Amino acid sequence: MSKTGILTGGGDCPGLNAVIRAVVRKSLNEGNTIIGIKNGWKGLIENDTMELTLDSISGILPKGGTILGTSRTNPYKNDGDVEKVKTNFKKMKLDALVAIGGEDTLGVANKLYKEGLNIVGAPKTIDNDLNCTDYTFGFDTAINIATECIDRLHTTAESHHRIIVVEVMGRHAGWIALESGIAGGADVILLPEFPIDITDVCDILKRRKARGKNFSIVVVAEGAKFKEGLILQEEKLDSFGHVRLGGIGNRLAKMIEEKTGFETRVSVLGHIQRGGSPTAFDRILGTRFGLKAAELIKNKKFGYMASLQGNKIVEVPLENAVASLKLVDKDFYNIAREFSG
Ligand code: F6P
Repeated sequence: MSKTGILTGGGDCPGLNAVIRAVVRKSLNEGNTIIGIKNGWKGLIENDTMELTLDSISGILPKGGTILGTSRTNPYKNDGDVEKVKTNFKKMKLDALVAIGGEDTLGVANKLYKEGLNIVGAPKTIDNDLNCTDYTFGFDTAINIATECIDRLHTTAESHHRIIVVEVMGRHAGWIALESGIAGGADVILLPEFPIDITDVCDILKRRKARGKNFSIVVVAEGAKFKEGLILQEEKLDSFGHVRLGGIGNRLAKMIEEKTGFETRVSVLGHIQRGGSPTAFDRILGTRFGLKAAELIKNKKFGYMASLQGNKIVEVPLENAVASLKLVDKDFYNIAREFSG
């Protein structure tokens, strides 16, 4: 019989509870015990845990967020925290840990694994920018929400003959903007991967106007930038060194209005994209990742992460997954360009 800990770190994400449920079910079915660590790495630093039983996971599959709570705590930020993690790992008598997270949480998992802790990972982020997996869970829900919003914004943009700029999440990678933009039939899609050319944006909008379309939708990722750099909400860095993004939508709308004379509005979707119930796809992907993570622990394959490749769930070294981000390439972006103007 072994004892496994499980934690969720970083931004919350629809589908986290599906992973937790799958890990708990499989561990209990195999006669093992499992303990929930609250609020990501913070719970391991502070020895803050909760019991996980069949009862505690009952009914959580359709629930958004995470029953364990989350935080952006980085144990490598403050002196002494890594030692506390190691001490509490022993105190809790853990044989292994499942860390569910994106590049930051799994980056920490990889470092701790290299320092001797038995850890496996499950890939989460609505941004879908984690490497070595075709998809992370949460992304499908986010693009479905964003697509529905774009559909709704289309009808009001058309009625009022306006441009609407829709700002979506996506810090380093523009997957949400790209896929929701394509699905929602946006006229301009702007991503962090390719600098914004405001003349090109305005030309597209003017071309549409010239062919009688006096409304347009512009989808912009929060991390998209002009040549001069990012637009920030706050300069302060979080414990992983990230700034708070936000504001590109407003800046862009102002510039469009000034340069074209077209009435323009902005809609910032923000955390709506991360909240609420996961799609069926994310529930299934989360469940498959959870079962794989439990299997990795059973087979003592520590230092690995569950991953989706094609239609198969496979394992990849954590080290490879966190080495670099998965960004949008030009070929995929060009799909969107075909429908501009
Ligand atoms: O988790 C990823 C993400 O949703 C990014 O797209 C976004 O920039 C960030 O989190 C927002 O973070 P917070 O919830 O801390 O405001």
